[in-house]
Amino acid sequence: MKPINVGLLGIGTVGGGTFTVLQRNAEEIARRAGRPIRITVVADKNLELAGKATQGKCRVTGDAFAVVTDPEVDIVVELIGGYGVARELVLKAIASGKHVVTANKALLATHGNEIFKAAQDKGVMVAFEAAVAGGVPIIKAVREGLAANRIEWIAGIINGTTNFILSEMRDKGLSFEAVLKEAQRLGYAEADPTFDIEGVDAAHKITILSALAFGTPMQFERAYVEGISRLDAIDIKYAEQLGYRIKLLGITRRTPDGIELRVHPTLIPAKRLIANVEGAMNAVLVQGDAVGATLYYGKGAGAEPTASAVIADLVDVTRLHTADPQNRVPHMAFQPNQLVALPVLPMDEVQTCFYLRLRVQDEPGVLASVTRVLADEKISIDAMLQKEPGEGEYEADLVLLTHLTREKRINSAIAKIEKLPVVVGKVTRIRMEELGK
Ligand code: HSE
Repeated sequence: MKPINVGLLGIGTVGGGTFTVLQRNAEEIARRAGRPIRITVVADKNLELAGKATQGKCRVTGDAFAVVTDPEVDIVVELIGGYGVARELVLKAIASGKHVVTANKALLATHGNEIFKAAQDKGVMVAFEAAVAGGVPIIKAVREGLAANRIEWIAGIINGTTNFILSEMRDKGLSFEAVLKEAQRLGYAEADPTFDIEGVDAAHKITILSALAFGTPMQFERAYVEGISRLDAIDIKYAEQLGYRIKLLGITRRTPDGIELRVHPTLIPAKRLIANVEGAMNAVLVQGDAVGATLYYGKGAGAEPTASAVIADLVDVTRLHTADPQNRVPHMAFQPNQLVALPVLPMDEVQTCFYLRLRVQDEPGVLASVTRVLADEKISIDAMLQKEPGEGEYEADLVLLTHLTREKRINSAIAKIEKLPVVVGKVTRIRMEELGK
């Protein structure tokens, strides 16, 4: 049977994994796809690396633009990353009538609307299972497996690097810097690790999931993004004492007024399965009206786990590329003319519970003055923890958990609390989600 020919752009960690797994499982993959899938050409800036990785089994070139217009190539796999040259290459591949498989979440979250429109017009497929949660088939689950549901919310640990850092800091008491280095060594971190640490990578991924869940265009520029760089180890410890874990979550939720789209450190009850996802693992919790909660768990980064998703897309494209473009699974889950630009709620209007930590002077009436401010803002307290001052100290940590409130109310309360003479320094505030129904 005539093989389908793939041009691979970038043979770094994921490209190398894709090459290896396609070779190793060639026979089984062909039995699934109906045709052999063959990498015919690899483009990489580093020709020496590309030569070593491919060992003479295919052509190697330094010219990626020649690959996307190569008449021999049926599918272009883009594993370069970023939204500069990758965007140009993907658009050029589409214009040349090639199907595209990409792991590039940054590109899709920021230019997906343009790319999917171009692909739709040209009648080609752009598949991107590897863009969110690496090897976990969450795109297929949301787009196809849950198609009966009105999706209510999605909450995910979708950045392995930050989850690895938070887990190691909590477990082993290691420093932030030491753990980050290890994550980079293991190949989890982005080329620019600030994308991981500051929540940008997770925001790219939750933007994609949000669009697929609610049938909206990609709205990355409206996402609220807060990473873990300002997180203090003491809060991880206090949260644990109160029965919670802190995770960097990507959250998107449908509300009557619009969509929530946010990434931030979040306290979640330790008893939830997702709270126990440790190391570089990813997990995505999806709440649908018919199915209820479903949880998807697995490796969100690394060579072969990500290759697993890239190759699943290659199999899908191979199976479907002769089908009528109008009758394929739509790129963004909903038919292209059925997307609705639902508003993304400003963060001030988002409702969550909160963890507050403040340093107070240890004297009568302190608690009363703090709780009075919260009561005035109609914020109800759920739990409280007061740490005894150390020997010879006159200040103590006070930790409060609140019930659901709007972000603008807590901000106003915090501003007032910080002005109280008995409160020392700034109030630490971390959002909290029950992740129940
Ligand atoms: N830097 C990403 C992570 C890699 O840590 O999860 C996979 O997208």
